[in-house]
Amino acid sequence: MDLGPGWIAVALGRDVEPGVAVPAIVGGREIVLWRTESGVLQAWVDRCPHRGMRLSLGFVRGESLSCLYHGWRYGADGGCIGIPAHPDLVPPRTITATTYPVIEAAGLIWLALGDAAGTPPAPDGAWTGAISVTIDRDAASVAAALDDAAGRFAAVQPVLPGRARLHVAVADGGDAIAACLWAEDVRRRLEIPLLAAAE
Ligand code: FES
Repeated sequence: MDLGPGWIAVALGRDVEPGVAVPAIVGGREIVLWRTESGVLQAWVDRCPHRGMRLSLGFVRGESLSCLYHGWRYGADGGCIGIPAHPDLVPPRTITATTYPVIEAAGLIWLALGDAAGTPPAPDGAWTGAISVTIDRDAASVAAALDDAAGRFAAVQPVLPGRARLHVAVADGGDAIAACLWAEDVRRRLEIPLLAAAE
């Protein structure tokens, strides 16, 4: 999938807590989202530069992410800072995980696969992520099915051809339960015609 430049919502902010790494797929690309224990958000290609293990299976230790396989440790700029089998070696700077620009806005986590100019297309103010729903329709179809409501903000993540994630946030004091019910209703409205056609 060719997504071009710009910010893409990929998760609720609350779903990537400090000290945790989680996988995501954006336009077919496998990403690891993780947060250092001090709270700095990261988005990297989900592949260890050593032998290709998924970094989302690894462990956050302080401000670094360690690979599950051989324990190579990567700092917050993606560079390798430790190789357990060679404790006296200073890893060369060429051993670096691929990183993406990442930011939080309106209760959601956004990354840019290319040009990260500007800011995410999100409203100002205090927002809290309410729900993420996977929908078996392409991102454009999901985006076309959204309707506006006061106190609710939604963004669509292209995952794979024919699959998207809908992320919904509510303004502080907003009705999170109503937002969750709305997201589920969007999913049903889009998927039920597909199921009926397949019968
Ligand atoms: S594959 Fe990650 S440390 Fe070896």
